[in-house]
Amino acid sequence: MVKQYYLNNKIKQDMNGVLIYKSRYGTTQQYTEWIGKALDLRLHDPDGVSQQELAAYDFLVIGTPVYFDKMLMRDWLYQHKAFLQQKQVFLFVVCLASPYERAKQDQIINNNVPEGLIDPEHIFFLPGKPVIPSIITPCKSDVIQEVNIVTLVITIKKMVAEATEL
Ligand SMILES: Cc1cc2nc3c(=O)[nH]c(=O)nc-3n(C[C@H](O)[C@H](O)[C@H](O)COP(=O)(O)O)c2cc1C
Repeated sequence: MVKQYYLNNKIKQDMNGVLIYKSRYGTTQQYTEWIGKALDLRLHDPDGVSQQELAAYDFLVIGTPVYFDKMLMRDWLYQHKAFLQQKQVFLFVVCLASPYERAKQDQIINNNVPEGLIDPEHIFFLPGKPVIPSIITPCKSDVIQEVNIVTLVITIKKMVAEATEL
């Protein structure tokens, strides 16, 4: 739960959110844990939580890595499309597409996110870890840093503050 905010000397009420994610080699999980800590949100595996349980939350933060151009959360997004349309949804995508490859990022979104489901400003690309599948051990990489989640965390805090303004 995002704690109370004080903005313009007004007390902001709590707003419930939850983190849903999938991860194979732990990169998305690491980001999810950092985001959960920063926003005080619970973490859920999509397979372990029902739509009924999710209905209690005001917003969802969904994390997914990309494998062979497909988001691990792609099928879940399509399955729950109607439900998600009624919620505030944020998505963070963990992959190797560079921030400078805007066209590549757009392609990933177009191929994996139901059209119009998520505000483009609520979609964040975070650097993934280059792993060698046959060895599974992640290569040494310093791109997975907590600082990468800052923009996402600020955006969500701002949304909560605005939505709960007295
Ligand atoms: C077999 C394999 C296929 C991948 N395919 C893509 C891809 O198509 N596009 C991309 O940007 N990154 C790709 N990646 C990079 C992963 O998205 C990256 O390693 C990410 O950090 C994995 O997240 P996870 O540890 O949470 O599973 C691939 C990685 C592997 C091992």
